[in-house]
Order: sequence, then structure tokens, then C-alpha cells
Amino acid sequence: NWTMDGFIDEQIAKIRAQVGDRKVLLGLSGGVDSSVVGVLLHRAIGDQLTSIFVDHGLLRKNEAQQVMEMLGGKFGLNIVKVDAQERFLGKLAGVTDPEQKRKIIGNEFIQVFNDEATKLNGIDFLAQGTLYTDVIESGTDTAQTIKSHHNVGGLPEDMQFQLIEPLNTLFKDEVRELGEKLGMPHEMVWRQPFPGPGLGIRIMGDITEDKLKIVRDSDWILRDEIAKAGLEGDVWQYFTILTNVRSVGVMGDYRTYDHTVAIRAITSVDGMTADFARLPWELLQKISSRIVNEVDHVNRIVYDITAKPPATVEWE
Ligand code: XMP
Repeated sequence: NWTMDGFIDEQIAKIRAQVGDRKVLLGLSGGVDSSVVGVLLHRAIGDQLTSIFVDHGLLRKNEAQQVMEMLGGKFGLNIVKVDAQERFLGKLAGVTDPEQKRKIIGNEFIQVFNDEATKLNGIDFLAQGTLYTDVIESGTDTAQTIKSHHNVGGLPEDMQFQLIEPLNTLFKDEVRELGEKLGMPHEMVWRQPFPGPGLGIRIMGDITEDKLKIVRDSDWILRDEIAKAGLEGDVWQYFTILTNVRSVGVMGDYRTYDHTVAIRAITSVDGMTADFARLPWELLQKISSRIVNEVDHVNRIVYDITAKPPATVEWE
């Protein structure tokens, strides 16, 4: 009968047999799937694995450091970290259309990844965190399929790798269980979904560094309070949005004209449908006053009380 321990042993043996003394490349996104692949591969082949972590500057507060400390530090993965914030913000300057933003971020991601991959020599394999559900959805032979997700796809033709996809028989819950079996911390393995385009699609309209700071700092406060309330496991996804609306407020003796931040917190099974989470009023009150007090240029907080459908989870 199937056990996770048996699965780990079997995968490690399989990876070692397949790779031999050759080298493997992995694109780390900070998400659960690629992180678990990284830890599993590192256990199997150690420093024959090189990972590339592209920081597009659209990650949440402390997220890049956490990836580096946990995967690079604690687990000892060899990670090439690319600080590409300027490159991404340059390409995104003045862009307001949501799909355009997604396209730019996705394309730039592939470009940066390829630029780094090209610098590495003698790589024979590309590892990917493809799940069983991805295999079903793409409906093709996995060995031929590069997952169209931005952090892995679209390699140039002169870079031919064999694919290693150790998660392609697993469902998401099994990947989380695998991560925990491999000694990864609970909060890393059970983290809420985070979109590839990151905070870029949580700022309505054009993206600037100032706006990124507002959405990052407000999101940090929201997460902190949800954690303190012990509700991390009850809310499927929760984040803040910079709405691109300014409104009049009053602070002391002064009239303000500043940003409106929206809070989105949902319950869901798979993200396909969702309902807004019935967060306690007292908690919302606390989050609201903390954001207004601690984050400059925010003077109003609203709570998104729409289900999906008709709304989507993200605002863009
Ligand atoms: P929506 O907004 O479509 O979100 O209701 C459903 C789930 O998908 C995530 N999402 C994305 N994930 N790239 C991603 O990797 C994207 O462009 C993207 N857009 C939405 C969203 O966070 C939610 O979990």
C-alpha cells in the first residue's frame, strides 16, 4: 500500500538513477510546489541542483528573505537569487490594463530566468513542480509539456532540457503532506495561494514603488492580525488591494485626500468559487485602525463583501 515515506524513497531512487552525475536546474517561485520540488531534489542529488529565484519586486513583505533563509539557509539549496525589481518596474511603468500587466510580468519572468539559465553551463535537466491536476488539464504527454505558468515556461529552442517532474502524480494536499514529511515548516507548506503576477495585480492601475509599499505594508498588517486571531486555517485567501480611489478624510486638524485600501478575505475550496469570509467585526476594526495608523497615505479601509461569482478573487 501507498505511503508518503515510500513515495519519497521511490522518487529519490528514481531521480538519482535518472540524473546520475549530471546537473539539474529549478525555477523557484517561493510557492509551495517549486519549494517542495527543491527540497526533494536537494535530498536526492544535493549540489547537482541549482535553483534560480527571480525576485520581481512584486512579492509580499519579507517573502524573498524567507525563501532564501529557509530554502537556501536551513535546507542548504544552492540558489541564484536575481533581484529584478527595477527591470520589472521599468517594463510596467504606466501600464494600467490588467491583462497587459500579466503579460508583461510573465514575459519578463521568462526572460530573466533564461538570462540566468544561459549563464549556467552543463545543465541537462529542468525540474518543475507540475502537479497531477496540471497534467490532466494540459491533456498531453507531460514529458513534452512545459507548464505554461510564467515561472517555468517558454525556454528558447537552443536550451534543451529533459524534464523532471516528481510531483506529477500528486494532488495539492499530497504535496503539502510531502513537504511536511521532508521537514518543511507548516506555515510554508500551508501558505495561502499567491498569484504569479504578485502584488502587481493588487494595485489597480499603474504600479509604482510608493504604491507597492502601501499594498505590501497593509497586507503585512492584515496577515499579522489574521495570524494573531488564529484564523489562518479558516480563511482560504486574504490580502489587501490598493483601489486607485482617493477620498477625503480628516486627521487631527487636517483634511486629507488619500488612498483607499480594500481588504479581501475569502472562504473557498479551490478558488473556483468563493464567499467572503465572515471575519469578526472587532478584528476588522483592529485591522482597519492599524492600517490607517501605520501605513502612510491611507485614510480609508473598505471590506469586499462579494462572492465569486460574480466577482473574482483578485480585483484584476
Ligand atoms: P480569480 O481572481 O481568478 O482567482 O478569481 C482565483 C485564484 O487564482 C489566483 N490567480 C492567479 N494565479 N496567476 C496565478 O498564478 C494569475 O495571473 C492569477 N490570477 C488569479 C488567485 O489568487 C486565486 O487564488
